[in-house]
Amino acid sequence: MDISQMLKSLQDPMGVPFYPFVFQVLLVLTFALHIIFVNLVIGGVFMSVYGYFKKGNYYRALSKAFAKASTINFSLLIVLGVAPLLFMQVIYDPFWYTANVLSAAWMVGIVFVLMAAFSFAYVFYMKLYKDRKHIGVWGVAAFLLILLVGVTMHAVSYQALFPEQWVNWYVGGSKADLSGTILHAFQLPRFLHFIVASFAITGIFMMLYAWYFKERDDMDKSYLAWVGKTGAKMAVTFTVLQMVVGVWWLLSLPSGFQFYRNPVFLTAGVLVVLLLLVLIEAQSNPQKYALPAAGLALIGVLGMTSAREALRMLYVGRYNYSVYTYKLNLSYGSTALFAVTFLMGIVIVSYLLSVVFKMGRSSKPLDLSSLRLRTWSVYLMIAWILIMIGIGVAIAS
Ligand code: HEM
Repeated sequence: MDISQMLKSLQDPMGVPFYPFVFQVLLVLTFALHIIFVNLVIGGVFMSVYGYFKKGNYYRALSKAFAKASTINFSLLIVLGVAPLLFMQVIYDPFWYTANVLSAAWMVGIVFVLMAAFSFAYVFYMKLYKDRKHIGVWGVAAFLLILLVGVTMHAVSYQALFPEQWVNWYVGGSKADLSGTILHAFQLPRFLHFIVASFAITGIFMMLYAWYFKERDDMDKSYLAWVGKTGAKMAVTFTVLQMVVGVWWLLSLPSGFQFYRNPVFLTAGVLVVLLLLVLIEAQSNPQKYALPAAGLALIGVLGMTSAREALRMLYVGRYNYSVYTYKLNLSYGSTALFAVTFLMGIVIVSYLLSVVFKMGRSSKPLDLSSLRLRTWSVYLMIAWILIMIGIGVAIAS
């Protein structure tokens, strides 16, 4: 069978419930959030272990701060991984499901690897706060297992792009390989592009840390200045390295794509250069430049994840696959419910974030009544629960 025909026949015959472009935008947006937290966890767990092994009070304090933050970032990484997973299944289902099944043992296995990695990171954090000795092994094990999940996610995302190889991988010689125990494709520069970025993003996180806590009178100002400087140095070094790896990835792409001329990629490139300029300027005063650097990093990551999507469109375009030609089966009801839930989520999450932000910034008790979003969050939550129960009852009756 012709490959493009095969891909068409693997699509959901029911079609998609709303315009594919909307799912694509949401996929890019949520993947950007996912990968930022992946970066923060990889860099954060690394810094907590590095700080533990390095002697000195500042490193020890930084190690503790990162060990604690990493457990929270780890949870967010997982939650924010589910969203792109769902959007991907809607518009790239032939690719995603086949790639998953080809390495099914790995994909099922990473659930357990994730649980082990999180547990190890948590044990490391708990023991660190109790000042126990010889605990580095927990942190190192967590870091290596996190990388293993990254390797799996990369391989599966990448092998999805080569449908002409699927049969060879599946049949593998004279008999079919049903084990799902092999990762079939790996592209080092692409993988490194996600890993190296971790240290740049974590460096910016350290600048933000120094900026955020500077208002607190119970924080050591010289420690904060050191964190900011170390973070800024790390951010600029790894941003340069990230560019080198990016060029390597660019050169390893199929020449027919001419990706260096792609407008989405070029825009992302300009954003990253701007980020680098801000980071160079930030070396003298990291706390002052923490917010602009973080803002530009966020936009830069969004640019890069959009470029990654543009690249995927070129890969799948080789088989005449386009998400825009997916069969449309408009469902306004479910889309409206999704949009309302999404907006409600934004309000409630904004409220929670503002509470956390204000609580952490001051050593004094916080007066929650000054936060206007509080009332909205409660009413919206009640309204949402009532709507969901109402729909459930209407469907059941
Ligand atoms: C330690 C844990 C994790 C790490 C280090 C990690 C890392 C990565 C990396 C590096 C990629 C990009 C691969 C590439 O494009 O070559 C990726 C993609 C992805 N990850 Fe994660 N991930 C983790 C956990 C998760 C979890 C728990 C989920 C889902 C619940 C998830 C969902 C996804 C999805 C759906 C993609 C592909 C999105 C797309 O292709 O647009 N990840 N992950």
